[in-house]
Parts: sequence; C-alpha cells; structure tokens
Amino acid sequence: MNVLVTGGAGYIGSHTVKALVEAGHHVVVFDDLSTGHRASVAGVPFVQGDVTRREDLLDALKRYSIDAVMHFAAKSLVGESMQDPAKYYVNNVAGGVTLLEALREAGVETIIFSSTAAVYGEPESIPIPEEHPLRPTSVYGRTKLMFEQMLEDYRRVYGLRYAALRYFNAAGADPGGQIGEDHDPETHLIPIVLQAALGQREAVTIFGTDYDTPDGTCIRDYIHVTDLADAHVLALEALKAGGPGGVYNLGNGNGFSVRQVIEAAERVVGAKIPVKEGDRRAGDPAVLVASSEKARRELGWKPRFTDLDEIVRTAWQWHRSHPNGYARPS
Ligand code: UFG
Repeated sequence: MNVLVTGGAGYIGSHTVKALVEAGHHVVVFDDLSTGHRASVAGVPFVQGDVTRREDLLDALKRYSIDAVMHFAAKSLVGESMQDPAKYYVNNVAGGVTLLEALREAGVETIIFSSTAAVYGEPESIPIPEEHPLRPTSVYGRTKLMFEQMLEDYRRVYGLRYAALRYFNAAGADPGGQIGEDHDPETHLIPIVLQAALGQREAVTIFGTDYDTPDGTCIRDYIHVTDLADAHVLALEALKAGGPGGVYNLGNGNGFSVRQVIEAAERVVGAKIPVKEGDRRAGDPAVLVASSEKARRELGWKPRFTDLDEIVRTAWQWHRSHPNGYARPS
C-alpha cells in the first residue's frame, strides 16, 4: 500500500515508518519538522508540509497515489496544552478536520490515528478498558478525543475506515540503534533518567512520593515504541482486510512505578543515578495501566518487549550513542 505518514519524523512516527517499510509498504512522510527530525526517516520520500494547510495535504495525497494515512502530526505535551490551548486546537483539531477533508477530496478512505490514554482522564478502574468513561483532564486529551469523535462521525456518514490507537507510555528505541527519542524540551521519565545517568542533568526529580501506590510513586504502563509501531501495521492490514476498526488501547498491561523505572535504569546502566524527591506534578493520576486485550484479540497484536529492563536497555543504547539526539551523533 502507499501510505502517507503525517508526523512521520517524530518519535513514534519514525518507528512506525520503519515498521511499514519492513512490512513492504511504500511510505511517504509528511512532517513540518517543528518537532520531528529529517534524519529519523533518512531514505524515505519526504514532504515538508503542514496539516493545517489543505493544499499541502492534497498535493501529497494525489502526487503519491496514497491509499491510507497514518496520522501522528500533533502537539503532544500535556503541560503546554494547559498554557497554550490555542496551539492544540489549531494543530490537533483544526489540522484534523483539514486532514479529513483532504482525504475525502482525494478519495482516501483509510486512516490510523495516534490517540492517547489521556482521553480517559482519572481512571475509575485498573486496567483501563476501551469502554472506560472518557473524561480527559487536559486540553491535549480533549483535542485527541475530539478527533476520535470526528473519525466516528466520518465513518458513520462518509464510510471512512479508521482505527484510533490509544497509547499508554511509549518508551524505548528501535533495537537497531539508528532511531530513538529526541524531544526538546524532554519531559518523559525514561529519557530524563538516562540523561541524568549520562551526566547531562544533575538529577532526576521524582514528582511525588506520597501517592497511594506500594512505593508512593506513580505507576505507568510503559510500552515499547517498536511494539506500538507493529500495532499500527497490524491495524492497517486489519482494516484493509475488512476488519471493523474502532478504538484500541496499546499498553503492555504491566504497571511500573517511577522508582522501579529508576532502579531498572540503574541495573541497565550499571551505576547509581542521582535522584531528588519533589512535589507532585499537577494532573498526574496515581496509576495508569491499560487493558490491551482488544488489540491482542482483534489485531493479533502481541507486545515483544514486556520486560522493563529490556525496554530501558534499548533506550540506553540510543541515548548513549546519540547523547545529543539527531543533532550530533557521536
Ligand atoms: N516523572 C517524574 N519525573 C520526571 C518526569 C516524569 O517523576 O522528571 C513521572 C511522572 O510524574 C509520571 C511518570 O514519571 O508519573 C511518567 O511521566 P511521563 O511524563 O514520562 O509520562 P506521562 O505518564 O505523564 O504521559 C504519558 C504520555 C502523554 C499522555 C499521558 C496520558 O507521554 O502523551 O501519558 O496520561 F498524555
């Protein structure tokens, strides 16, 4: 299939591009490079474009005879979304409608969407199934939910075929060592811990040690980015084979606390990592763990990296060999 990947030069996008190419698809990356890296998709046809510009999208869809789209291009920082909501409504919501309209005009009927656990908000039960109430607590989560709702309306009325994949905590890097996570600023736990291990930060600050969890720190479901990438390829193939699509959680079903992540990193790195205990970060639920039974059952998805040390090891390989990300590999 000819697949256009918006946001394909980002962290999860670039890993999915690699998986699509390996599965034999013809991939075109569409990215504005506001946060993505051209080097993460070297050798893949690339269009520098903006999802809020219909002409950019239509041009790429037609020029490459696109059959399906994977849509990653979005703003994705919870904290920033609360400070600058307009940025999120413009890129994630207005950009989303613009994309759907371009698809309609170009006759493209299949889309895989990069959604998030943030659509659930504070969990009522753990593990979280797809039927859990949707009460996002951030602007970011709301914009992702709005796009999911648009997808459902476009399916009902225009026959769009979609899968929305709700990721929990994406982590790790491609085991081949050439691509990985490179955000500026970095806000995610595992890269921050590894930057502290490399001496690039003085210490990692634990955001809250008084949660109602066994060790007092927040528990999250860390899912390897390569497993996420595989799920996108499976979701696309299932849709093309006539599958129903819809929403799917993607997590590995195991929760790990912030302290357990730091301990895993210490085992992988083979050294103590400097840690500070700090206040809670606003809006962090104590525990977020997915039920991914539906993806396993309907897509035949099976995460390969279920061991936390192994996930952290792949991230460490990337950070150690690319201490400055894509800018200056060592
Ligand atoms: N944490 C720290 N110190 C840090 C950074 C993070 O203690 O320096 C903690 C957080 O408080 C949280 C855990 O580590 O308990 C994981 O934090 P991340 O920022 O790595 O990830 P989040 O769980 O906050 O965010 C993820 C996705 C978001 C998504 C959200 C859903 O990255 O896109 O889950 O709630 F919106």
